[in-house]
Amino acid sequence: MDIARTPSTIDGNNQLADAPPEPKDPPVIRREDYKPFPWLVPQVELSFDLGISKTTVQAKLSVERNPAANADPVIHLNGDGLQPLTVLIDGEPTDSWHMEDADLLLSLPGESHEVTITTEIDPSANTQLMGLYASDGMLCTQCEAEGFRRITFFPDRPDVLSTYRVHMTGDAEAFPVLLCNGNLEASGANDDGTHWAEWHDPWPKPSYLFALVAGQLVANTDSFTTMNGRKVTLNIYVRDGDLPRTGHAMESLKKSMRWDEKVFGREYDLDLFNIVAVSDFNMGAMENKGLNVFNTKYVLADEDTATDSDFDGIEGVIAHEYFHNWSGNRVTCRDWFQLSLKEGFTVLRDQLFSQDMGSEPVKRIEDVRVLRGAQFPEDSGPLAHPIRPDSYREISNFYTATVYNKGAEVIRMMRTMVGEERFRAATDLYFDTHDGEAATCEDFIRAMEQGAGIDLGQFRLWYSQAGTPKVTVRLEHDGETATLHLSQEVPATPGQPEKQPMPIPLKLALFDRETGKHHGEQLVTLTKAQDNFSFAGFAQPPVLSINRGFSAPVTIQRDTPVEDLVFLAAKDDDPFARYEALQDLIVSHLKQAVDGALDLAAMQSAREAIARALGAVLADDTLDDLMRGELLVLPSETYLAETMLIADPGRIHEERQAMRAALGTMLEAEFVALHQRASAVPFSLDAEARGARKVKTQALIYLAAGNPELGKQMAWAQYQGADNMTDRQGALMVLTGLTGIERTDALMDFYNRYQGNALVVDKWFALQASSMHPACMAHVESLAKHPDFTLKNPNRVRSLYMAFAYNPHAFHAASGEGYKLIADVILALDPINPQTAARFVPQLGRWRRIEPGRSALMKEQLERIASAPELSRDTYEQVSRSLG
Ligand code: ARG
Ligand code: ZN
Repeated sequence: MDIARTPSTIDGNNQLADAPPEPKDPPVIRREDYKPFPWLVPQVELSFDLGISKTTVQAKLSVERNPAANADPVIHLNGDGLQPLTVLIDGEPTDSWHMEDADLLLSLPGESHEVTITTEIDPSANTQLMGLYASDGMLCTQCEAEGFRRITFFPDRPDVLSTYRVHMTGDAEAFPVLLCNGNLEASGANDDGTHWAEWHDPWPKPSYLFALVAGQLVANTDSFTTMNGRKVTLNIYVRDGDLPRTGHAMESLKKSMRWDEKVFGREYDLDLFNIVAVSDFNMGAMENKGLNVFNTKYVLADEDTATDSDFDGIEGVIAHEYFHNWSGNRVTCRDWFQLSLKEGFTVLRDQLFSQDMGSEPVKRIEDVRVLRGAQFPEDSGPLAHPIRPDSYREISNFYTATVYNKGAEVIRMMRTMVGEERFRAATDLYFDTHDGEAATCEDFIRAMEQGAGIDLGQFRLWYSQAGTPKVTVRLEHDGETATLHLSQEVPATPGQPEKQPMPIPLKLALFDRETGKHHGEQLVTLTKAQDNFSFAGFAQPPVLSINRGFSAPVTIQRDTPVEDLVFLAAKDDDPFARYEALQDLIVSHLKQAVDGALDLAAMQSAREAIARALGAVLADDTLDDLMRGELLVLPSETYLAETMLIADPGRIHEERQAMRAALGTMLEAEFVALHQRASAVPFSLDAEARGARKVKTQALIYLAAGNPELGKQMAWAQYQGADNMTDRQGALMVLTGLTGIERTDALMDFYNRYQGNALVVDKWFALQASSMHPACMAHVESLAKHPDFTLKNPNRVRSLYMAFAYNPHAFHAASGEGYKLIADVILALDPINPQTAARFVPQLGRWRRIEPGRSALMKEQLERIASAPELSRDTYEQVSRSLG
């Protein structure tokens, strides 16, 4: 075994040590280069001797030549940071192997063999949290996308499917619970204080779905009987004290299982379903077969420590991971370019589930807000990529809002075009045809074509073209006829200068101004660059409501008359369209205000028009409070910036806050009344009480902007009287943006009350890092020195720095200090956790769309990162794309 030598031991005169580091240019992987793996690995036997700082892994692979691939006598096994201790072929030591970079290449003489390799790993040193790592004294794994190669040498690609038998041995006291995929077949104690368990997963799976957990855990145990009468044991494993906060996750799991049977006809396929919550986790959760591993954030909740939106997040993520059992596990991906095959589809499935569990329009509005806030900016920047990318250097960088959320929108459009019933026929065909396979997006599209009877020839462009289409809309009226003129433009994106027109399904309705009614919703699909659609029978020009329900993930460009927006905001029977009209009214006003295009009188009358529209929302008793709360949320600064070619974040912040203050003043009495009414609703988790909590905090936000003293008093009272986290956090958020002793007192009280509860302490960090307070940056700098802060825990890093990076007024400080702060974070975090470090890059990557002063400062920080030696592949790729 080769010990790494430092340059100075090779060369005493220091020349090498001073030489510039080798420019590292990690290779580009391309979709078109896909080749099936020359070997099949039908069976894997793993044996783990577990220890926090030393775990020994013996992997026994049965391999045979793949008749569907070109023969290759060499089997190429991926590795990452591993050295083989022993390599055996058919039980005999061999030296017919060599290392190529981190991978192990082994020559195999025959058609089928048994390859046995032993490796040793140190989970406690694994700060990347990929592969096998230690979290709070327990051992757990994350293998998607390429973490399994950090455990043992393996063809670590999703098209190699194997059945796994796993033997785990570990100290009985440190690791009383030993979990793996599939079913527990046997377990027992040894004489030396260790014990063992043997797990077998009958379903062939790719290595990215492997999981193992060992630790001191307790379970909330329940059961679920499937539609065919199979009794499934359900366990949610957590740390001892956390058991009382697992009830909501368990209910969410059972609801998900029932819903997937009813709506997609999918039944669970093992007798056991385990979930484990871990506090160190790069993402939200992971769908490992029969053993989902979750970030604690998406498991633990009770009314005292979790907000209503935390409860919703848990329900959605539990469902998402559970649904992957079919869309992801039973049918997996051929290669990582197909990621949206499982992620886009599964996000759609979890969105539809959440729509059914709660309020459909509110969920739709929230999902569109996420799309516009996260995916649209991605699609219009240097990191834009199609939902099925063509190339990558580091696949972790492609777990994006585009692959996930736009991916879901693309499948949702197909569902809109064919209707629910034919959509179901198509998904049935897809699952039946590809069960047990590693499939492609093309397979999904073909199943949709055959099962639903639709030609998706042109629609495939949604998979290959990046960029958010712009649809320009003009409505003309002549005699009895209304004519809709539509045109589309798909903007150029990196590597795709030229685009073809895409099919864009637009739901629309034409309202009679007098009666406030329309003659039914219609679906028109714009397939050409320009087209006209005529509608007869309109003596007067109708009011157009278009892209209802957000039927297509596009931006609509239209000079809608203000009176039409006011009409729709008050009368549209599609709640999404109603929300949209109100947003349009506000967005178009703010854009003019930011441009300095409004004199005092014009400013005043626009604000009054918006106040009237919001006043109508406050007064409308046909609305429930959940929807009312949604309608009151102002478009975010990020979304406003996105609607402008070049944005001045400072001006956007000023104008948005000034408008909010003006609205708070004009509607002060109404907001106070709303707050009072909502405060009288007692705590419960039903929709009415949740709605009341939502509007309560919305009212505080406006009041605090318009009348800070009043807002402060009311927020402080809400904080002190709170009997649940939603009210408490809402009030604290408002106080954190204000000055005064109440701010300090509330923050201190909150910390003392919840010290030791990591998820709530995360909130405490995040509230301060995302606050409206002018000294936000100074607060963040001092919080970074807080004893509870650490770069090693991704939730904590996100709660401080991600919250800051997405807090426009603080991040975009004109001095550039916010950019420098985030660049420093990237550089400090990169050697610890490259995946999480790289997730900060996109915010700096927006530089081309920001006004010149700030733009230069952002670019400067990107260049500083780029020039650092030894960047990870993750950060290197994101920074070079952002500058390129
Ligand atoms: N498949 C997981 C999910 O969306 C995400 C895992 C991503 N992991 C990663 N290291 N990028 O449910
Ligand atoms: Zn997923």
